[in-house]
Amino acid sequence: MSPMKPGRVLNAEQLKARGRIPRHVAIIMDGNGRWAAKRGVPRLWGHREGRKSVREAVEVSIDLGVEILTLYTFSKENWDRPKREVTGLMRFLMRTLREEVGDLDRGGVRLRTIGRLQDLPTEVRKVVRDATKTLDGNRTLLLQLALSYSGREEILGAVRKMISEAKEKKGGSIRIDERSFARHLDTAGIPDPDLLIRTSGEMRLSNFLLWQVAYSELWVTDTLWPDFRRRHYLTAVADYQKRERRFGRTD
Ligand code: IPE
Ligand code: IPE
Ligand code: MG
Repeated sequence: MSPMKPGRVLNAEQLKARGRIPRHVAIIMDGNGRWAAKRGVPRLWGHREGRKSVREAVEVSIDLGVEILTLYTFSKENWDRPKREVTGLMRFLMRTLREEVGDLDRGGVRLRTIGRLQDLPTEVRKVVRDATKTLDGNRTLLLQLALSYSGREEILGAVRKMISEAKEKKGGSIRIDERSFARHLDTAGIPDPDLLIRTSGEMRLSNFLLWQVAYSELWVTDTLWPDFRRRHYLTAVADYQKRERRFGRTD
């Protein structure tokens, strides 16, 4: 947990000058409900407020030269929340994508999704598809949204794909190693996250990118997602720059 001392945070240019900017940052955006509860307002207000934090996370990623930003937006398990909340979240997702697509385009942001897209209501799928199409070809930042996402499901999906490929192949055998397996995940072709941020203090992965975070650096803050701002992100990156990544080696 990183105590925040406002005013002592290095800016994006200073962090860039130090080198070692994470290529891929993943964020578990948690704490919207608690943000609302603290104020005695409906949970959905917390989700709505989280939009500003998303905008800022995208902006900071661009300023820092982060190549990929993956946001845990909605988990497969989140379908088990009360219908009102689920419907509200879907509505926010559609509205946000529709309203932000212009700015995302101007910022050079490309969109990609991971997760069980087929679970989403048709109209949400359409908005996601349209935004993805509009932003196709942009190269500054890849924004990857995890929607109806489950790390375990993703792994099982990869296993299923490999088995069906093996069945189609003469002889029925295929090569199974880490590289070929990773090519069957939703994140195929995307490097693993270097830095995983979780807001609101929970020390767990909640079924997020289970395969991909094997050697990611973890950074947890007590700050609730709607309160997450530029300075929090910059602090996370400054801390990341001080980490010694060893990948099991001694050097
Ligand atoms: C994260 O905030 C947003 C989603 C999971 C969609 P929560 O809604 O989980 O907020 P808390 O954890 O209850 O505070
Ligand atoms: C993880 O947060 C999912 C998202 C941020 C979308 P949750 O609030 O659903 O996770 P738990 O229930 O605290 O583990
Ligand atoms: Mg939560």
